[in-house]
Amino acid sequence: MTRSLFSRRAFLQTTAGAAGASLVPGSILLEAEPSFSGRLAAASDRIRFGIVGVGMEGSNVLATAVALPGVECVAAADLYDGRHTLAREIVGKPIKTTRRYKELLDDKEIDAILIAVPDHWHKQVVVDALAAGKDVYCEKPMSHNPADGLEMVAAYKKTDRIVQIGAQRTSSVLCAKAKELLAKGAIGDLNLIEASYGRNDPNGAWEYPPPPDLSPENLDWDTWLGTAPKKPFDPNTFARWRCWKEYGTGVAGDLLVHLISGMQFSLGINEAPTRVSAFGGIYRFKDGRNMPDVHPVLFEYMGIPVYMRLSLGSESPEVTRFQGSKGAIELREFSVTYAPQAGVDTSPSYYTSSYPAKMREAYAKQWHEEHDPPPGKEPAAETITWNGNDYDDLRPHLARFFDAVRSRQPVVQDAVFGHNAALACHLANESYFRKTPVYWDAGSQTIKSLS
Ligand SMILES: NC(=O)c1ccc[n+]([C@@H]2O[C@H](COP(=O)([O-])OP(=O)(O)OC[C@H]3O[C@@H](n4cnc5c(N)ncnc54)[C@H](O)[C@@H]3O)[C@@H](O)[C@H]2O)c1
Repeated sequence: MTRSLFSRRAFLQTTAGAAGASLVPGSILLEAEPSFSGRLAAASDRIRFGIVGVGMEGSNVLATAVALPGVECVAAADLYDGRHTLAREIVGKPIKTTRRYKELLDDKEIDAILIAVPDHWHKQVVVDALAAGKDVYCEKPMSHNPADGLEMVAAYKKTDRIVQIGAQRTSSVLCAKAKELLAKGAIGDLNLIEASYGRNDPNGAWEYPPPPDLSPENLDWDTWLGTAPKKPFDPNTFARWRCWKEYGTGVAGDLLVHLISGMQFSLGINEAPTRVSAFGGIYRFKDGRNMPDVHPVLFEYMGIPVYMRLSLGSESPEVTRFQGSKGAIELREFSVTYAPQAGVDTSPSYYTSSYPAKMREAYAKQWHEEHDPPPGKEPAAETITWNGNDYDDLRPHLARFFDAVRSRQPVVQDAVFGHNAALACHLANESYFRKTPVYWDAGSQTIKSLS
């Protein structure tokens, strides 16, 4: 497999060696759930899919999907002809390739469509695919703006088709472990969530090298622009579209959406935040982009503060901390750690150092009489870490989608889930641009400022 077929995450995982997957003292290795390791399907169960968009992520999705049992890629659509070649290289046999995704939708032999086009094209391809009766896997963030999201949800609700959004954290065994711990009340009453992730290199900040042969001859540039304002052919825009709001959704839609989706899943919630206040700016990559490269956001979910900090200006690991009255759960890329807290005094108050000696000693004596556990009954507050085993969540996420296509059972990360996660990102962007706290006004179905 060439490097181009790796996601950034899989690539970093490989280069980081086995550190994240090794068994360290006090830790437990989580195995992938058997059903997501690729359930063998009968020949009659075979799912024929087409893919729309075979770029950086589409090539990763395609390579992962064709390695699953019981599924077969029969066609690929992309506006750039170089990616027709790439699709055939990945599938390893002749498949139909075209610039026109509607040809895939017209093909009655195709059951499902995988969509990995830039954000500004998600809505149209999803809505058209559902209208054509296809099951749909669409990359995150589901929508490019709230109105697109509402249209996608409406289209989804009109059909009995499966829609799964591609924020793959929700299929990881680590998120499942965090969810299990939270549901059991392991950390008592949740009172704060914080999450952060940072990069500090041009690739991480989307300054990708456009394909050297890219030209208006081998790329349908006008169609690529879609609903965005017309502008002359520009290879950098094609490769680095995340930098501009006309096509992408910034660090919010690119990265924050993973943290939000993982949080929604772990908490078992499916809702948008009630209010959002964002800050940030373009501090590190002043390359003409109009989306912030540093974007700290304070959300409120269920009355609880959720503080998420995204940065392309300084590196920091991806981590989400759920904090409660009885401890904390720390979810990282390759591990989940549960650190219980007693939440009670375990020794006499240090404030009594301000008492005269006799008073202090009397207090301490009484405190020990009333609080010391009987011998042998001392609480053992043990921190436990579970590790993921060399594990990329994309494979189980796709397997889960194809399982649902077969079983017709609903998926967790459906269009409503994807809409709520994307809405959090749109609110974060709106607050940044408006420089005011914002909220989602359910009545008017729009974002409103709080001040
Ligand atoms: N889940 C993840 O971890 C993850 C990772 C990276 C990207 N993504 C998402 O995947 C999507 C694609 O990102 P990317 O980095 O692969 O972009 P990309 O620019 O590398 O590839 C997009 C491809 O879509 C094609 N395309 C655009 N409009 C089209 C249309 N109307 N019809 C057919 N083809 C069209 C382009 O020609 C291009 O080849 C984005 O929504 C992104 O947010 C998700």
